[in-house]
Parts: sequence; C-alpha cells; structure tokens
Amino acid sequence: MATSAMSVSENVDLTGKRVVVTGASSGIGKELSRVLVIRGAEVIMACRNEQKTRHTINELASSLDEDQVQRLVFEECDLSSLKNVYSFCQRLTEQAVPIHRLFFNGGVFSVPFKLTPEGLEYTYTANYLGHYLLLRAFLNADLLNSDSQVIATMSEGGYQYPFASANLEMLATPENASYLQRSVARFTASPNSKVMMMLMMEYFNRNMQDEVAPKIRFNSADPGPTLTDNINQMGIALKFLAPIYTPFFMHSVERGAAGLMWLAVADEAKDLNGVLLNKRFKEVSIPARSRDSNLSDRCWELSEKIIETRLNMPVSSLCREKGSLLAS
Ligand SMILES: NC(=O)c1ccc[n+]([C@@H]2O[C@H](COP(=O)([O-])OP(=O)(O)OC[C@H]3O[C@@H](n4cnc5c(N)ncnc54)[C@H](OP(=O)(O)O)[C@@H]3O)[C@@H](O)[C@H]2O)c1
Repeated sequence: MATSAMSVSENVDLTGKRVVVTGASSGIGKELSRVLVIRGAEVIMACRNEQKTRHTINELASSLDEDQVQRLVFEECDLSSLKNVYSFCQRLTEQAVPIHRLFFNGGVFSVPFKLTPEGLEYTYTANYLGHYLLLRAFLNADLLNSDSQVIATMSEGGYQYPFASANLEMLATPENASYLQRSVARFTASPNSKVMMMLMMEYFNRNMQDEVAPKIRFNSADPGPTLTDNINQMGIALKFLAPIYTPFFMHSVERGAAGLMWLAVADEAKDLNGVLLNKRFKEVSIPARSRDSNLSDRCWELSEKIIETRLNMPVSSLCREKGSLLAS
C-alpha cells in the first residue's frame, strides 16, 4: 500500500486532542482534517470561505461516522486579513481549549501581485504573516503547551528554488514595489513566503522554547507535487491541460498529506524539532538563507512591527485583552 496520511497514522489515538488546520477547505488540509477526525481529534477547520468549507464537510461526511463529522468544526480565518485572523484567535482564546496540533497549511501558490485591504502583499500575508500572528497570539493565550506541535506545509520552491529569498522589503513596503517586482511576484511570492516560514521555525526553536517547558516542537514537510486546487492558480491554459499532464508528475492528496501527518503523530518523530521533510519523507538540509539567525531575527521583528501597526496594539497584548476586536 502506498504511504498515505491514513497509513502513517494507523493505531494512533487522538481522542481528546484539538487540532487547528488552516486551509482545510480543500486539498492537503481537507485530507489532514479527514484523517485527524478518523483518529479521534476535534479539528478546527480555519478557513476563509464558510460556504465552501461547509460543502467540504458535507463531502467528507459521506465516508465518516456522525460522531466524526461533529468533530469537524468550521471557524472563519482569512489568513490574508490580520484583523480577521486575530478575531479567530480571540474566539479560540475565549474557548480556552489547548491546541495540541497546529497545522500551518493554508495558502496560495500563484496569484498575481495585489495588496490586501490592510496594505500588505497578498501571498506573503496569507502564506506567512497570518500564520505568524496565529503563533504569537496562541502563545500569549497559553493555548500551546508541552503537548503541542506546530507543523508547517513547505514547498520545494522554498528550499530548492535558487532565487527564493525572504524579501523583507516586499513584506514591509509592498506599495513601493517596482513594475518588475510586481510582475515576477506571481512566481516568487509563494517560495519566498516559505523561506519566511522556515525563518519563523528557526527563530522559534532558537528563542521561544523557554516560554513553555518542555518544548513545543515546530517542524515542516513538503508534500511534493500534489493534485489539489493549487493547480487552478497556474493560469487558464495549464488548468485546461491539467488532466493530461498531471498524472505523470503529481501524486494524490492522501500521499501529499502523509509527511505532515507523520510529523504530527508518529512515535519516531517525537524527538524531531526544526526539521524539514521532503516529498520522500526524508529529512533535508535547510538552506543557509533559511537558517540565518540574523535574518530570522529581522524577519521576526519586522513581522511583529507590521502586526503592531496594523492591529494597533503591542504583540505582547494579543489575546490577553479579551474581546477587543470581537466586538468590532
Ligand atoms: N499541491 C502542491 O503541489 C503543493 C506543493 C507544495 C506545497 N504545497 C502547499 O500545500 C498547502 C496546501 O495547498 P494545496 O495544495 O492543498 O492547495 P489548495 O487545494 O488550493 O488548498 C489551499 C488551501 O488554502 C486556503 N487558503 C488560501 N488562501 C487563504 C486565505 N487567505 N485564508 C485562509 N485560507 C486560505 C484555501 O482556501 P479556499 O478553499 O478558500 O481557497 C485552501 O483551503 C499550501 O501551503 C501550499 O503552498 C502544495
């Protein structure tokens, strides 16, 4: 049997565990959610589109027990909006239920350059900054504890594409991007956002572990080329041709979700921290640009500053003052 999220989690019992999966409405996040509820977890499907997510839950329901379906919980979380992400964090803070697994999975792959209503570059925000905010808010709210793990969905582009970089200028001041930067952003923003995600992992594992003892683990895996809705962002021609070429170099979501699930549940993964698994489930060396501690310091501090400016509050206050954005 081919390796899948189901096969790597065989005999795992997640009863009583709460798991948050961003981007659970389709693709890899949908498959992670399906397998997690089968293994007994409650899954918070943190998604931007309620109608689509409810449709996804209905689709999954056809192969799940009633009890499993009840444990699939939609919560609105638009990763491209810091205000929306923060409202989500506040709702979970009010519930005061620990989060045992936090999958940083949602994101976009190839959308043309655009600014969010908060004036940020869209892909960087949805793929990276929204997740950074989740991490900081959940830490403040004490929702992550010694039994918690963060698992980020990486991509080959983020560690193999030689030109991928943490483009901090684009994160900080996208409105100043030149015409050339805007036109290549469609192809570079996603790998660049994954570089930032790896820098977040590096910073977290180097600096934040004293906050909770013993350690919260933060790992990542590349699902490899996986047949998901992602393909629809590659333009009309490639979308049209997808049924012809994808079977030759893309695998199923069951397989794409396997490495992420393995990190989350396997006994053999219990001592791993700060690792990146490739599509063959092998630990790979993280490129120097994503291990650079000076750069990760800068990226972390800049992200903090952007959030403080946009939400108009210190990061240290996130989810400590109950209800301030819930009311708005
Ligand atoms: N498929 C691949 O070949 C591949 C390879 C390497 C890495 N990855 C990574 O795998 C992850 C999942 O992608 P996928 O392949 O499963 O693609 P997908 O089917 O398109 O799923 C992406 C998910 O992210 C969500 N999302 C996008 N923008 C969002 C936002 N602003 N706020 C909240 N959620 C948002 C989507 O929500 P909607 O349903 O509302 O659009 C969807 O649930 C991504 O991080 C991607 O970079 C995929």
